[in-house]
Amino acid sequence: MSRQGYYQELGLVNTRDMFHKAVRGGYAVPAYNFNNLEQLQAIISACVETASPVIVQVSKGARSYANETMLRYMAMGAVQMARETGSQIPIALHLDHGDSFELCQACIESGFSSVMIDGSHLAYEDNIALTRKVVEFAHHHEVTVEGELGVLAGIEDEVQAEHSTYTRPEEVEDFVARTGVDSLAISIGTSHGAYKFKVGPDEEPPPLRFDILYEIEKRIPGFPIVLHGASSVVPEYVDLINLYGGRMEGAVGVSEAQLRQAAASSVCKINIDSDGRLAVTAKIREYLARHPEEFDPRKYLGAARSELVALIRHKNQNVLGSAGQA
Ligand code: G3H
Ligand code: 13P
Ligand code: ZN
Repeated sequence: MSRQGYYQELGLVNTRDMFHKAVRGGYAVPAYNFNNLEQLQAIISACVETASPVIVQVSKGARSYANETMLRYMAMGAVQMARETGSQIPIALHLDHGDSFELCQACIESGFSSVMIDGSHLAYEDNIALTRKVVEFAHHHEVTVEGELGVLAGIEDEVQAEHSTYTRPEEVEDFVARTGVDSLAISIGTSHGAYKFKVGPDEEPPPLRFDILYEIEKRIPGFPIVLHGASSVVPEYVDLINLYGGRMEGAVGVSEAQLRQAAASSVCKINIDSDGRLAVTAKIREYLARHPEEFDPRKYLGAARSELVALIRHKNQNVLGSAGQA
């Protein structure tokens, strides 16, 4: 496709300054996934309201769903919408789980300010080679790059892993030095989706492997770390979904206490997708069940959007600590 111009002209920023401030300040920048207008509106409104820096992120699947060109102008619109309120919060547009050099390049050329190249399922040297190639292209355009070491269980877009492999702390120094990445996603016990842990009715999910995180911190002090699979799978939403005709048995996420502990460390980006999906689905189900005569999408999508604002406000203020940091 034709080159459309890079992120600076859309009013976006890369993640460099955001991350350095977050690591120093002991909080994490939220990275919320979106696929449609209402999700993006909710993310921007809530982050403007709470004066939080924000990363809006798009998976490969979301990019095909929403359309590449549409996304570019949605991102530009999101920045304008924030500025019209007088807010100067930094906004980055990030590719989540990029799986090839070509995809990262296309996203950079259409206005993304940050990309993830996820070579975590590759052999170590192949991960380094692919990540290095993306970094060279991205840095030429002032775009920041997230790499990954260690594999999360669950579905990462089209990459599916049955078992997780924790990040090996002894590899991180070499990986960061040889690739030139700006941030590193690690695997310490989280997984993607709404079914993160198998636990009995009165059991607590196992704690995250903070010992691995702290060992990584020791080896690359102050280097920005990213936590994927960080939804709490808010029980109230799961209950609402089940109450209004859904079927989500045994959905469990990461506790807010664990996320607060991670945000206080060198984890400076926390990825949240599933909680947003649950909020939207719960509110649409509830709205339609309570208003069976209604067929105006603005009504049920509006209810979902309002709930998403409340969820993001809560996360920024009470979990990630990013509120007031913009
Ligand atoms: O890490 C995966 C994200 O939650 C994106 O999911 O590929 O279904 O858009 P998706
Ligand atoms: P959740 O499925 O826990 O929201 O994780 C999202 C994620 O890591 C996106 O990259
Ligand atoms: Zn992820």
